[in-house]
Amino acid sequence: MLANFAIIGCGRISVNHLDAIKNAPHARLVAVCDIIEEKAKMVALENGLSKWYTNAEEMLKNEKIDVCCILTPSGMHCEHVCLAAKHRVHVLCEKPLDVTKEKMQKMLDCCKENNVKIGAVFQRRTHDGAIKVRELVQSGKIGKIMLADASLKYYRNQEYYDSDAWRGTWELDGGGALMNQGIHGIDMLSWLMGGIKSVYAKCATLSWNIAVEDTAVVNVSFKNGAIGVIQGTTAAYPGLDTIFSLHGSKGSISFGDNGLYTWELEDKSIKKPEILDSMGGKNCQYISTNKGHALQIEDMALAVIENREPMITGEEAMKSVEIVLAIYESAKTGKEIFLD
Ligand SMILES: NC(=O)c1ccc[n+]([C@@H]2O[C@H](COP(=O)([O-])OP(=O)(O)OC[C@H]3O[C@@H](n4cnc5c(N)ncnc54)[C@H](O)[C@@H]3O)[C@@H](O)[C@H]2O)c1
Repeated sequence: MLANFAIIGCGRISVNHLDAIKNAPHARLVAVCDIIEEKAKMVALENGLSKWYTNAEEMLKNEKIDVCCILTPSGMHCEHVCLAAKHRVHVLCEKPLDVTKEKMQKMLDCCKENNVKIGAVFQRRTHDGAIKVRELVQSGKIGKIMLADASLKYYRNQEYYDSDAWRGTWELDGGGALMNQGIHGIDMLSWLMGGIKSVYAKCATLSWNIAVEDTAVVNVSFKNGAIGVIQGTTAAYPGLDTIFSLHGSKGSISFGDNGLYTWELEDKSIKKPEILDSMGGKNCQYISTNKGHALQIEDMALAVIENREPMITGEEAMKSVEIVLAIYESAKTGKEIFLD
């Protein structure tokens, strides 16, 4: 059995989704849409489709679609998720889920009312190193964690921000170094540690001509009692590995885009596992193996076929956007902000 996939938005990230759909055992591409006809046409023809759409509603009306991947600018996700849901089509939505609490709640409500599933992309959760570290944390073998930090030092130049009108805007990008790039690492840190309780942040626009932040530092209190720091930027030339470090009473570990960097445990019988996959390389651009998207597309197809929840639900993805929104509120008010 195959699930019929369509995409709305034929931009940069569509390459990963199209590759994943092509290679997923339980998915097949049936339709594509972009408001820019040349983009939709090119993607359709390259993927063996003789038809393409420039209007998402028309595509949803005319085609038999099980899952629609929402790949439009971040602040449009709500509009397109709700449109798909109204046509009783399940959705897999790119990160961030959307950029305001109200819109994210609307998306979840829309999917619930129409009885469709909403999955969300955070492909780094499928990285072998991240999975091993999370298992270690949960098993208690690193002991009581006191310090956990994330170094999210990307590089995007002015050309990148000028390349599309939505980039670096509050309305459609929802923020800068944290809401667009850093959200991957913020989601990772929270996922590894079992949730974030509060944040106290400073955000600044120091390098690029954009309305949103390009640099941020955040003091974090975790639900498990530990504290930590998040550093995020899109101005660290030429873009560094994203690195996560956790320090517990029985050991220290750190890992990044290309595997495990530190594995120092009191219990020497726990050997450092070999990690072969990559989270995307130094600048986390488009040079990864696409393993994460491939797994998430196959998981979404199976979620529909087996009538179960996807690996990362909309509710789960919303939590990470809420952390970023709390960071922005803290930077604006100068106060520590507590998450629910
Ligand atoms: N998971 C990841 O690592 C990752 C990486 C890159 C981007 N993303 C996310 O994917 C989303 C898209 O990013 P991108 O870099 O591909 O952007 P992009 O600008 O390259 O592509 C967006 C596309 O959506 C199209 N579009 C806009 N409005 C539309 C509409 N009403 N109907 C149909 N098409 C419409 C645009 O014409 C464009 O082709 C963003 O939310 C971004 O955060 C995720």
